[in-house]
Amino acid sequence: MTDDLKELFTFLSFPSVSTDSKHRQDVRNCAEWIIRKLSAMPLTTELHETPGHPIVIARNKYQADRKTVLIYGHYDVQPADPFELWSSPPFSPEIRDGRIWARGATDNKGQMLAHILGVGKTLEANGELPVNLIFLFEGEEEIGSPNLAPFLKAHRDELKCDIIAISDTGMVAPNTGTLGYGLRGITCAEVKIIGPVRDLHSGIFGGAIANPATAIARLVASLHDGEGKVAIEGFYDEVRPLEAWEREMWAKVPGLSDQDYLKVTGSPASFGELGYSSAERVFARPTAEVNGIGGGYQGEGSKTVIPSEAFVKFSFRLVPDQDPQIILQRLRVHLEKHCPPGVKLVIEDGHDGKPYACDPHSNFGKAAQRALKRTFPGEPMLIREGGSIPIVQAFREILGVDTLLLGLALSDAQIHSPNENFPIENFEAGIRLNQALLEELAK
Ligand code: BES
Ligand code: ZN
Repeated sequence: MTDDLKELFTFLSFPSVSTDSKHRQDVRNCAEWIIRKLSAMPLTTELHETPGHPIVIARNKYQADRKTVLIYGHYDVQPADPFELWSSPPFSPEIRDGRIWARGATDNKGQMLAHILGVGKTLEANGELPVNLIFLFEGEEEIGSPNLAPFLKAHRDELKCDIIAISDTGMVAPNTGTLGYGLRGITCAEVKIIGPVRDLHSGIFGGAIANPATAIARLVASLHDGEGKVAIEGFYDEVRPLEAWEREMWAKVPGLSDQDYLKVTGSPASFGELGYSSAERVFARPTAEVNGIGGGYQGEGSKTVIPSEAFVKFSFRLVPDQDPQIILQRLRVHLEKHCPPGVKLVIEDGHDGKPYACDPHSNFGKAAQRALKRTFPGEPMLIREGGSIPIVQAFREILGVDTLLLGLALSDAQIHSPNENFPIENFEAGIRLNQALLEELAK
């Protein structure tokens, strides 16, 4: 095994699950490992405490005549459960079929280490970098980056830069350079319906007392119309329409056909807002999703009860120029209007992040495309992303800087799912890409 792969294996063996307090020390150990690695390169490092998990900063020596590039990544991962569905343990990385299998392999440790090793190789070869570099690594991306925006505000001057680069998004097909120029935003909410003070006998009380599970189902059903559109009043008011050049471009990108989406997901048929392709629905249209729903008896056989409570967890993916807080307000109005009588409605806000889009043909965008062309065959593909990296729009609002998304995540990487994986070839290409990127951004 190469030294680079050994390093990745070590990085992947930290169970740095940000959402789970029992992994708090593992997250910290992982941050400290990164600090040791960066210090040895050598870069100047800082570990910043936050009310949550630490932020890691590293930089080379500043020179006024060079451009400043900030590279962002996250060292936290999603929980690995359900564990029994993994072919090998999530925090004991293994290589099979040319891929590294572990939680975080693609999202984001493999891609983040490719940034670090690309910089390391340039430093080894030249003793210097062609740019002023700021590494910014956080341990809370998977929980919505609650402490990073305040950190940016407090350290605005030290984080001043010309451009930001991130590898934490998709690559449309193997060995295909992909530049992302947009991300969807997100807003989450949990809705509880509260009925009787305890579960009731459904024969003795059924018909006379409202059923919270039925009420939840009615609310969920009220969210969409018959054409796959979100039925919340005003939901689409600020949605920027798709540009003709984007639709034309995406229709030609490999790996993005409706059939490709079915193949990757194993779903029997396409579904979504009428009048759009699968890629258009994911990249540029907002959605309402149910991420979890429950209430009532879940065990074997039947149990004749009216549950006292039921819940649903919603998330909404947003596109420019929708605002998460405004959408949440419209959701509240919608839920209050559609909640059936006889129950109590409780809405709890979750985390959020704004949508983002930039011009892929800016000077820095062109530099990123040249770096992709030097690393992968053919012309780079330009896409927007269905996923969210909430801090990216905050980078623009707080630091005034755009972000280039140089994605290495394949659609079958199974990020957030069991058996997450990262092809060794993507890891190695990512290292070369980062070397090329610094050179091109410096021009
Ligand atoms: N790396 C992903 C986002 C991503 C993946 C974008 C693939 C595009 C393609 C990131 O780590 C992530 O999962 N973000 C969360 C954010 C949320 C928890 C606030 C998401 O999109 O669900
Ligand atoms: Zn993720």
